[in-house]
Amino acid sequence: MAHSRTPVTVTLTGAGGQIGYALLFRIASGQMLGADVPVRLRLLEIPQGLRAAEGAALELQDGAFPLLAGVDVTDDRAAAFDGVNVALLVGARPRGPGMERADLLAANGGIFGPQGAAINAGAADDVRIVVVGNPANTNALIASAHAPDVPSERFTALTRLDHNRALGQLAAALDAPVGGIRNVSIWGNHSASQYPDVSHATLDGAPALPLLAARLGGAEPAERWLADEFIPRVAKRGAEIIEVRGSSSVASAASATIDHMRDWVGGSPAGAGWTSAALPSDGSYGVPEGLISSFPVESVGGQLRIVQGLEISAFSRARIDASVAELIAERDAVRALGLI
Ligand code: NAD
Ligand code: LMR
Repeated sequence: MAHSRTPVTVTLTGAGGQIGYALLFRIASGQMLGADVPVRLRLLEIPQGLRAAEGAALELQDGAFPLLAGVDVTDDRAAAFDGVNVALLVGARPRGPGMERADLLAANGGIFGPQGAAINAGAADDVRIVVVGNPANTNALIASAHAPDVPSERFTALTRLDHNRALGQLAAALDAPVGGIRNVSIWGNHSASQYPDVSHATLDGAPALPLLAARLGGAEPAERWLADEFIPRVAKRGAEIIEVRGSSSVASAASATIDHMRDWVGGSPAGAGWTSAALPSDGSYGVPEGLISSFPVESVGGQLRIVQGLEISAFSRARIDASVAELIAERDAVRALGLI
């Protein structure tokens, strides 16, 4: 089929890496932006990663994707972000042996600051950005701080993977299909301090907590399961995957990235309930304004909106506050390093 629409420019950083490889073919086949939306891919890598990205570009050509209007591979940030509509910031500096947290934040500041500036200089007016590379929330904060002309709410970080993990764990505990579950929330940081919250979750329209209590032998065992198994399992799932697989999550991370951007651009599907994303706080739920924290969100009219008015129990409040405290500490650390 021929496409008359102007292609959407999608820039992927870290395109020669694992998640990049898992993302590219799904984007090219229309799974992110729609089956009738042509895309132009810009693959940004550092010089050591260029060959891998070039190889992926060859394979994209071999995929003969009708929606793929072109692929550029570059190590030039300005060229990569020129006219970008959708930016997937995946490439990041992993923690190396002996590296302290401050070293990691500084190394990533050296990546996400200049990328934010390049987005500021060249992006299209409708640019939407999701940061996947860790520490994702704070990397997004750094990038946004270097892009004063781009509305801050266009900078988001990925917690949809945590959201999907929570859906998977709850579905297993309820012995129910994952598709029947709605309104799970991830709050805070994409780290082990995050709070996966099922207090508003439903299964086929019915509150999930009583169903959980019925399966686990009462409200108390259900609460114990949530505190001792579910929350740590979801929050530490990244580490579990690293231990079992031998390297960090790839296909699930790519899939969540597709989910995040598909819903943001295309809108939350009717009746699907809310999902989770990290975006700049507007002060909702007591999260300090400007902090890039995960919230329950819906996508309406091309904008992510924090779901308002949810009742927050004392149990939830303490966990949200703990994760937000970690985000504040990360923000203060990058501020002290002069990165924001
Ligand atoms: P990877 O090491 O396979 O690939 C990363 C790629 O990024 C490499 O090819 C590297 O050359 C490139 N890169 C490094 N610096 C760059 C820069 N300045 N510009 C462009 N490219 C650059 O790693 P991966 O498995 O693809 O994971 C990527 C990141 O995603 C990691 O930080 C990982 O921790 C993170 N991650 C996040 C989530 C999440 O849910 N937010 C989930 C899984 C992984
Ligand atoms: C994940 O959640 O799988 C990753 O963020 C883990 C990691 O440290 O790369």
